[in-house]
Amino acid sequence: MSLYEEYKTTLQRITDVNFSAALLSWDQETYMPAGGAELRARQQATLAGISHEMTTSEALGKLLDQLENENSLDEKQKANVQQTLKDYRRAKKYSRAFVEELSACISEAFNAWQEAKAKSDFKIFAPKLKKLVELKRKECELLGYKEHALDALLELHEPGLTTKDVELLYNEVRSELVPFVKNIISKPLHSQDLLHISYDKGKQWDFSVHILKQMGFDFNYGRQDISVHPFTINFGAQDVRVTTRIDEFNLSDCITGTIHEGGHALYEQGLPNSEYGLPSGEAISLGIHESQSRLWENNVGRSLSFWKGQFSELKKSFPEQLKNSTAEDIFSAINVVQPSLIRINADELTYHFHIMVRFELEKALFENKIQVEEIPAFWNQRYKDYLGIDVPKDSEGCLQDVHWSHGSFGYFPTYSLGSFYAAQFFAKAKKDIPTLEKEIESGNYSSLLKWLRENIHQYGKRYEAKELCERVTGEKLNFNYFMEYAKEKYGKLYSDK
Ligand code: CO
Repeated sequence: MSLYEEYKTTLQRITDVNFSAALLSWDQETYMPAGGAELRARQQATLAGISHEMTTSEALGKLLDQLENENSLDEKQKANVQQTLKDYRRAKKYSRAFVEELSACISEAFNAWQEAKAKSDFKIFAPKLKKLVELKRKECELLGYKEHALDALLELHEPGLTTKDVELLYNEVRSELVPFVKNIISKPLHSQDLLHISYDKGKQWDFSVHILKQMGFDFNYGRQDISVHPFTINFGAQDVRVTTRIDEFNLSDCITGTIHEGGHALYEQGLPNSEYGLPSGEAISLGIHESQSRLWENNVGRSLSFWKGQFSELKKSFPEQLKNSTAEDIFSAINVVQPSLIRINADELTYHFHIMVRFELEKALFENKIQVEEIPAFWNQRYKDYLGIDVPKDSEGCLQDVHWSHGSFGYFPTYSLGSFYAAQFFAKAKKDIPTLEKEIESGNYSSLLKWLRENIHQYGKRYEAKELCERVTGEKLNFNYFMEYAKEKYGKLYSDK
């Protein structure tokens, strides 16, 4: 066996372990009986331990050192080896003691967060969070960074992204999107009543399956189930699973959730199966993953063209409820812009203000400009400044998201990045496919999927996000594309108001 074959086999075996653990997670979120939780935690810990040992083994290190100096590799193989070396060297920076301390701290913080949120009392969470932030600061030091401690954590989720990059993006959000939204919300709201009458759950489910099929999701290599929070998980390109949720009195919840997860899933189904286990068979980053889900959810699924193409099908399922409505009515109702407290329910414009608050807060925290105890006051002031709303209690404020209790700092900006990349990719797709709008109006998304496959999916992790963006669109990530999209769509939507 050649060295490269040996490397490939080793990585595939690690991936087998990781995907087996992922399958247990999927089961836990969907069908596992409540009583199974204790043993499941044990099984997951065992698999995580095995995976960690394999990922950091001396044998793999030696193999990578040899391969780094191997001249017979082609460009793709070299890129794979470089990526694995980077991952390997990073994993080796963590001592076993640090990993165990961090993992114990995260479980305590998670439990404290749950109680604090239920009682809406930040003081219950604060001491655990303080300890967690200290450990995460240590992690930044051991990982290393050039300018800002937070860079080390951003790198984990979005390789190549720096605190400076994110600051520059939010400067534009602050100077352009904030005043644009202020103007929109000064106008009367479109009615959303249409979305909140009774819609049979079974029929909503059938419609969501219909949409997934139309998008090109392949049910031979995937399935959809129900869970509390929708998510996508995969065990290779040949088994990709999405979940959705259905609320009888909220028509948009299931549809937009399914389209969003469908976008994530199409990316995973489009990764090259021949590269299983290798970086070239993996998604690039959280930001690029989110660009795929947001492109389908927002640029496609919340467009008038999409609803022109799908309305008659939806009306077949709900003839009574929709007898006096049009595609335009659905389009207006699912695009209402309104400042709100809860991030996951936010519209696609004010959503970025929620993320901006979290980023500013994390930055201040890691620069030691604020202490953990000051988080609620900092949070509430920013919500007043950017969204113009008062936060009545911490459970609807700084305690709403689970992420910090998991130690996920430097994570939130990837959500904004996803939307901004999506706008830029979609603008390029429209340029490359002049008939795209017309096709979407007729419920045909095949050229769009083909474009995404050819330009993004097939490369796996071959390029970093920044490089991919330049290769696909000819320029760096540029916030103007999102702003143009927002102006065109919401300018029209609110012009008659
Ligand atoms: Co997503």
